[in-house]
Amino acid sequence: MGNQIPKPLVTEVREISRTEGYDDGLRNVVVRNVTVEKVVQFDIQKLGGECVRYPSSYVVCYLLKKYGLSRVIDVTFGEGRFYKLCRSFIELLVAADPVRRNWVVSPDEFYQYNVFYLLSKLRSGDVRIVKALDVVVIDPPKWSEGVSYRKREMYNFLIGSPKLIIEYGAKVASLLGVRNLLVHYRDLVEISGYVPKHVVEFKWFARYLNTKNKNISLYIIYEKGG
Ligand SMILES: C[S@@+](CC[C@H](N)C(=O)[O-])C[C@H]1O[C@@H](n2cnc3c(N)ncnc32)[C@H](O)[C@@H]1O
Repeated sequence: MGNQIPKPLVTEVREISRTEGYDDGLRNVVVRNVTVEKVVQFDIQKLGGECVRYPSSYVVCYLLKKYGLSRVIDVTFGEGRFYKLCRSFIELLVAADPVRRNWVVSPDEFYQYNVFYLLSKLRSGDVRIVKALDVVVIDPPKWSEGVSYRKREMYNFLIGSPKLIIEYGAKVASLLGVRNLLVHYRDLVEISGYVPKHVVEFKWFARYLNTKNKNISLYIIYEKGG
C-alpha cells in the first residue's frame, strides 16, 4: 500500500439510525447517520505485500487518511502495528503503553504509562503535549471473551478493563482538546462528549470460533459533539 491513499475495501455502505444489534451488554446505543463499511480480512490480504501481515493497519490507515488525521496520540500503543502502512503520512505520533514492546513502528514520543496514569500526569502538568493533535487512538486488550491469543502477549496484558481504558482515552482527548477518537472494540459503545461517525466492521479469520459475531471487530471514528 505504501503511502498512497488506500482503496476502501467496501462491501457495504449504509446509513444506520440505530446500532442494529451492536450491544454493549447494557443497552443498545442509538446513533444516527453513521457510515458503516464492512471489510473482510482476506480481501485485504489478497492485496499482498505488507497487507498480508498488517490488515489492521490497512483499516486504520484508511480511516486516518480519509479524515486527514495525521497528528496522533495512541494511548494503547502496543507494537505500533496500526501505523505500519502509513507511517510517513503521520506527522506526529505520540504513544503511551504501560509496556515498552518491540516496536514495528517507532513513535516520536513515548510515555511508559497506562492510560489512567497518563491522564493524571497530563492533568498535573508533569507531562505536557503542546502540539495540536487530531485523534486519540484506543485499542484496549482482552475484550473478546473465549479467544486466546497465545502468540501475542500484548493482547492479554490488561490494566483496568477495556471499557475503562476507552473512557479514560476519551478523557485524555477532552483534556487535550482532541476532536476525534479512533476506537477498536467489539461494540459501538457510548462515549461521553463524542459521537460515532464512521464504523468499519472488520471480519477476521478465526476457524476456532463458532459463536455469532465473535470474529467481528469494529474500528470506529468518533467526533466531538453530543
Ligand atoms: C491490543 S494491544 C494494542 C496493539 C496496538 N494497537 C498495535 O498496533 O500494536 C493493547 C495494548 O494495551 C496495553 N494496555 C494494557 N492495559 C492498559 C492500560 N490500562 N492503559 C494503556 N494501555 C494498556 C497493553 O500493554 C497492550 O500493549
